[in-house]
Amino acid sequence: MSRRARPPARAPRAGAGGPTPLLRAARVGDAAAIAAVMRASIRGLAASAYPPDAIAAWASLPALYHAWAMTAGGEACVVAERSGRVVGYAARRGREVTAVFVTPGRARQGLGTALLSRVERDAARAGARSLFVRAALGAVPFYAAAGYRGARRVRVPLPGGAAIAAVSMRKTLR
Ligand SMILES: CC(C)(COP(=O)(O)OP(=O)(O)OC[C@H]1O[C@@H](n2cnc3c(N)ncnc32)[C@H](O)[C@@H]1OP(=O)(O)O)[C@@H](O)C(=O)NCCC(=O)NCCS
Repeated sequence: MSRRARPPARAPRAGAGGPTPLLRAARVGDAAAIAAVMRASIRGLAASAYPPDAIAAWASLPALYHAWAMTAGGEACVVAERSGRVVGYAARRGREVTAVFVTPGRARQGLGTALLSRVERDAARAGARSLFVRAALGAVPFYAAAGYRGARRVRVPLPGGAAIAAVSMRKTLR
């Protein structure tokens, strides 16, 4: 994975009180910050769609998991950074979008779209013609707005043996 920072595929809309986030390839040293963003995002933005035990299991992924995902796990990860702080991240493994998370204070400002666009651009450059995602229930309108289609219900396993309901969606890349 390239360690050089590259410009965002589509700049997020400017948020209140701060510079536009920079998108860059994640480094193993970002794992703790990624885990923190994911935890806050699940608790703050996804909790209404799932029972508390599922939210607790989903939000429990440790930094070590993200460090593994970026190395042996084969995930290409992108982070959004503002004023030196990670405020969002997205990931892809092969043709699957495995994560898009934004910190709650940055929601609905175009950041998720910018992260997803960057993942799609990188996938297209790597030769992918389509991507799929097992979308968390609350994120289905987000993926639909980005051009993903599909309604098949699936279950995504979580650490500790739990699983959450999701929707399988797919997009053809241009
Ligand atoms: C899903 C998520 C990444 C979206 O990030 P975001 O930065 O808020 O999304 P954007 O601002 O780019 O939204 C783009 C469009 O998606 C749609 N959208 C995004 N969030 C939505 C919501 N909660 N309800 C309905 N539509 C939504 C809208 O059409 C939106 O455009 P608009 O704001 O002009 O109406 C964010 O809500 C999140 O982190 N959720 C919790 C984690 C999660 O479930 N991730 C997906 C795992 S598969």
